[in-house]
Amino acid sequence: MWAQELRCLVPGLFRCRGPVRPLVRRAEMPAIVVLGAQWGDEGKGKATDLLATTDSIDYVVRTSGGHNAGHTIVVNGEKYATHLLPSGILTPGATSVIANGVVVSPEALFRELDGLLARGVEVADLKVSATAHVIASYHVTIDKVSERFLGKNQIGTTGRGIGPAYADKVNRVGIRIADLFDEAILLQKIEAALDVRNHLLTKVYNRRAIAVDAVAEELLAYAERLRPMVCDTSLLLNNALDAGQTVLFEGAQATMLDVDHGTYPFVTSSSPVAGGVSTGSGVGPTRIDRVIGVIKAYTTRVGSGPFPTELFDDNGTELQRIGGEIGVSTGRTRRCGWYDAVVARYASRVNGLTEFFLTKLDVLDHWDEIPVCVAYEIDGQRVEEMPMTQSEFHHAKPIYEVFPGWRTDISGCRTFEELPANAQSYVKALEEMSGAKIWGVGVGPGREQTVVVHPS
Ligand code: GDP
Ligand code: IMO
Ligand code: MG
Repeated sequence: MWAQELRCLVPGLFRCRGPVRPLVRRAEMPAIVVLGAQWGDEGKGKATDLLATTDSIDYVVRTSGGHNAGHTIVVNGEKYATHLLPSGILTPGATSVIANGVVVSPEALFRELDGLLARGVEVADLKVSATAHVIASYHVTIDKVSERFLGKNQIGTTGRGIGPAYADKVNRVGIRIADLFDEAILLQKIEAALDVRNHLLTKVYNRRAIAVDAVAEELLAYAERLRPMVCDTSLLLNNALDAGQTVLFEGAQATMLDVDHGTYPFVTSSSPVAGGVSTGSGVGPTRIDRVIGVIKAYTTRVGSGPFPTELFDDNGTELQRIGGEIGVSTGRTRRCGWYDAVVARYASRVNGLTEFFLTKLDVLDHWDEIPVCVAYEIDGQRVEEMPMTQSEFHHAKPIYEVFPGWRTDISGCRTFEELPANAQSYVKALEEMSGAKIWGVGVGPGREQTVVVHPS
């Protein structure tokens, strides 16, 4: 502000290189974040699709992760799964954007795109950041061998090369999308990336070295098809916001899988929390208005790592069966447990959630009683907040409050009032203990199977 005022008082003091961003922005702020509040697979795809189709969204943007994500969208009974592509790819009129924070496997990108085209889907316009990092086949090789090497300590990764690609990025030996358009630079970068990697592969993992030329050939094969999609996505999105257009940031993975805030080391290698949206897109935090945490009415987790409310009895098997809890990307069975309000409060805090979208309430139709974890017992003490250390979290025992079930099929409900009284009470109780209002509730996988609790 002071700079703007000085500019008026002392003309010529500031040499302006481009248009000054308008100081007065539209009253309604059109940047919305949708993210996972648990360990993933909360129904982010459904929430994104719902908002994209009902709120006239102009851009749907992925800002972190890669094709480790698996988002399901059900439209008119037809099921679609997206991995690297934003779910907005199914929304004609919206532009899909893969922003700089994503790690892009060109092979996975075109496999997914071609899969949709083969199904006759009218795919939306797609833009890819020039500065997004690339996943090549050697990242996949390293992901798999390093997991095997970890033995019983393995993370249970999706084996898609995500961790090694982010490691190269941070190590400053990554390859970026723009590098695919300059063969000489690309060769230099691959050489630098493989230098240490090949030592590791041959001397530690007892594997064959990877040839620079083979990687260059693999990546260059995608360059021309990628070229028209590639742009400065930060500029694109900021210009769109300046023009009053609406941008939806579709989260992948989730808060508890975040490399900083999750159950480290049993996490993914990126920042799926709200803060990651700004670094992953080049859109500043002040431009974001709503941050919606998608959360299941119970909890699931794929892969290794602590999970206090995990069930090892028939309830767990039934949640898995009724909820269809099978991973979209890897086909692995998801571990299941009751709702954890400590996790919900934590997600609310670290993301600054403005609201929750509660999914899969219909799965709980089949229980007489529904326990909810309201706090943990750790070493004999009652703990209401996420413990500071991972070893405390490993020892956390859930303290449950039990709510009466409703034993009614709610999949046809469309208003909050139509829900059975006990289901309404369950939603209200979760809202009170979770740290943010519940904007909507999912009562089935379909776009229309949604109950709005608090219209925004
Ligand atoms: P994402 O990774 O967060 O997008 O979630 P996934 O697609 O991996 O997993 C969520 C699963 O739950 C998918 O099969 C969705 O179709 C389904 N789903 C989403 N919302 C609801 C809901 O409210 N009720 C039911 N029964 N299924 C839902
Ligand atoms: P969506 O977007 C659930 C988990 C993996 C593993 C850990 C690290 O569909 O919610 P990675 O391959 O990322 O290095 O694996 O993270 N994981 C997910 N779990 N949903 C996801 O995505 C996940 N993406 C990664 O199972 O435990
Ligand atoms: Mg998923």
